[in-house]
Amino acid sequence: MSAQLRALAADTCYQVIDQGKSLSDALPRAQLKLDLPADKALLQEICFGVMRYLPQLETVCQQLMSKPLVKQLRPLQFLLYVGIYQLKFMRIPDHAAISETVEAARSLKGQSLTKLINAVLRSVQRQPALFDFSHAPDAVKFNHPGWLISALQQAYPADWTDILLANQQKAPLWLRINQQQISPTQFCAALTAEDIAYSQPFSYLPVAIKLQQACDVTSLPGYQQGWFSVQDAAAQHAALLLNAQPGEQVLDACCAPGGKTCHILEQTTDLHLTALDRDEKRLERVHANLARLQLEARVVAADVLDTARWWQGNLFDRILLDVPCSATGVIRRHPDIRWLRKKADIANLASLQTDILQQAWQLLKPGGTLLYATCSVLPAENQLQITQFLAHQADASLVPITQAGTEACWQILPGAADMDGFFFALLHKATPN
Ligand SMILES: C[S@@+](CC[C@H](N)C(=O)[O-])C[C@H]1O[C@@H](n2cnc3c(N)ncnc32)[C@H](O)[C@@H]1O
Repeated sequence: MSAQLRALAADTCYQVIDQGKSLSDALPRAQLKLDLPADKALLQEICFGVMRYLPQLETVCQQLMSKPLVKQLRPLQFLLYVGIYQLKFMRIPDHAAISETVEAARSLKGQSLTKLINAVLRSVQRQPALFDFSHAPDAVKFNHPGWLISALQQAYPADWTDILLANQQKAPLWLRINQQQISPTQFCAALTAEDIAYSQPFSYLPVAIKLQQACDVTSLPGYQQGWFSVQDAAAQHAALLLNAQPGEQVLDACCAPGGKTCHILEQTTDLHLTALDRDEKRLERVHANLARLQLEARVVAADVLDTARWWQGNLFDRILLDVPCSATGVIRRHPDIRWLRKKADIANLASLQTDILQQAWQLLKPGGTLLYATCSVLPAENQLQITQFLAHQADASLVPITQAGTEACWQILPGAADMDGFFFALLHKATPN
């Protein structure tokens, strides 16, 4: 692994933490500068690792340096984290990790800092006790921001540490079989023929396949032919719970990039599906997914709240509202989310979710069903949102979700059955007497 790769890792982490860019934007741009797939994967591993352990890496640096580097040298501060992460968490020989990290400093305009970086990394190598965080504050011990830890402690007094630990794990690779193209039995046979180990954990959801090892999905059987998509098993429950029936008018009101849109169409043929999103760029991915999976929908670029612009006047039989949310349920897949999301964002998101839910309800037929979904674990976006809605909406009632047992809403915690954190509430609209 080269010095260039380490410099790219440091710069990517700097862009995320100091400049507020998301890792899903910054990382692919950095990966374009590398040729080998193995190097691209390593870059991802390092950037994900620095995001996962940022408070501990900062704490170690604080103990070894009299003060952090000045503002103009911030990418080099991140290079130190990259170096320490390799020494502590990766199976790279120490001498290579140290010399290549020091070398990378030169390309980040840090010629004058090579001695300091070398000294810090050698101290980390010599002093394993620097990584004893048993008496550290929770934010350092668990590598999450304090506000999020407090919110989880309040919401899940018995489970908050499990959630934080699950967020530190690498997420498995889940596939969803496109049953319009191939049956689960045939697809599994194709995997077996290529010696690809998998499991099919949900008998009621046979299209959900968990691969034992991550891989380049474009090399799996049937990628080009649209036999499958990548989608976490929690998200795969959306189409199942929505349960659209042939001939129905369906609205997927926040559809991009189209994972659930496509699943709804794969599950039920002969639907009239409107797939709406206000983000035109993200809608390009909806078009691409529909084309690869050989599915059709009416795709509309519009704000769901601005009905005058897009609504054709027909009420919908079913509506999926996969609303914008804090994404606090998918931190294991997007480890930067914990740093990008701020406490104040939650109230703003909750208010937008309330507006979207109230607006969409007006578009639902009496007797129709609306599935409210988030990939959040915070009650303000989930259970509280639904409780408040039900308190004011006399024609709304909850349909119990059987997968969740007796409770009416379903909060999946990250890591449960190896799924992402997700929330579902299925709402029924009464028919007037
Ligand atoms: C959680 S993502 C949806 C993921 C998608 N359902 C899937 O499974 O691939 C939320 C989406 O809501 C969209 N969105 C946010 N506010 C919106 C609004 N007012 N009207 C329409 N779309 C909106 C965002 O652009 C984003 O693509």
